[in-house]
Amino acid sequence: MTRVLITGVRAKTGYPLAEQLAARQGVEVLGGSADPASVSIAGVRPVAFSWDDPSTWSAAADGIDALFLIRPDLEQAPELIEKLLAVTPSGARVTLLSELDADSLGAESWAMRAEGVVRRGGHRWTILRPSWFMQVFTDRRYYRDELALDARLTFPAAGAEVAWIDTRDIAAVAVRTLLEDGHDGKTYELSGPAALSLPRTAELLSVAVGKTVAHQDISIEDAVGGLSGFERYAFTVTFERLLRGGFATVTGSVEEVTGRPARSLETFLADVGPFA
Ligand SMILES: NC(=O)c1ccc[n+]([C@@H]2O[C@H](COP(=O)([O-])OP(=O)(O)OC[C@H]3O[C@@H](n4cnc5c(N)ncnc54)[C@H](OP(=O)(O)O)[C@@H]3O)[C@@H](O)[C@H]2O)c1
Repeated sequence: MTRVLITGVRAKTGYPLAEQLAARQGVEVLGGSADPASVSIAGVRPVAFSWDDPSTWSAAADGIDALFLIRPDLEQAPELIEKLLAVTPSGARVTLLSELDADSLGAESWAMRAEGVVRRGGHRWTILRPSWFMQVFTDRRYYRDELALDARLTFPAAGAEVAWIDTRDIAAVAVRTLLEDGHDGKTYELSGPAALSLPRTAELLSVAVGKTVAHQDISIEDAVGGLSGFERYAFTVTFERLLRGGFATVTGSVEEVTGRPARSLETFLADVGPFA
């Protein structure tokens, strides 16, 4: 039995990964959550895991063979990851979820420091660097409600394109890196099959929403208006990168690792069905 811990089983990436791992023979899936009682996924054992409560980490990581580490959007993420790795069995494989082209942020950046502790942590590691997730359109914490209620996509773009990726494809890559040989020490830049402008993205979303979705271009300052502290900083840096075309790179890594091409936004939306 291969025991795998996912640090965030309710996450946009963690959920499809849990489902895909649970479908495999011989895999015991531990679904980490600060609210394990809310987790109900067939074949997944909910476990208490919270980045805010290090006392949960040792029990969650006890005896695991592999760890899917969803980088928490917290300023102290590099230090938290380092501490989690210290209680992770030394033989475990570790796959870190980072972000596309993190190198461009510089060696001292938050993203690269988070990667660095995994590279130097003493485990067999793989780093996944995905583009923006298609699932931000269906996540109520992001765009779902404004799409469903106002048929609007408020997003700073200034003509930039995004190679949206389906988190089911990130999960499919992670299944391989967590369970199979050949991925140790590798960093995979992951994207969907096409870079789309925001107006084109809105056009495709219109079919699922059932109304014409208007892309409303706004400044980064307006986009991060309601945020403060590290969250504001992180979104500002990310949108600046997006405007420079930093999330427009199309890579073939999903197909290289899984043998299947990455899903398109059209396929993702068809699978989701009409927005409520
Ligand atoms: N979003 C993107 O497009 C994108 C692109 C590239 C990289 N990334 C990186 O990916 C990481 C985040 O991964 P993710 O997007 O898969 O995580 P996520 O969906 O943001 O979930 C992270 C955690 O939030 C908690 N949570 C709180 N309220 C929730 C709710 N209503 N529904 C679900 N979860 C909730 C859950 O933890 P508990 O169960 O413990 O509460 C969950 O594990 C970050 O490092 C981010 O920088 C994101």
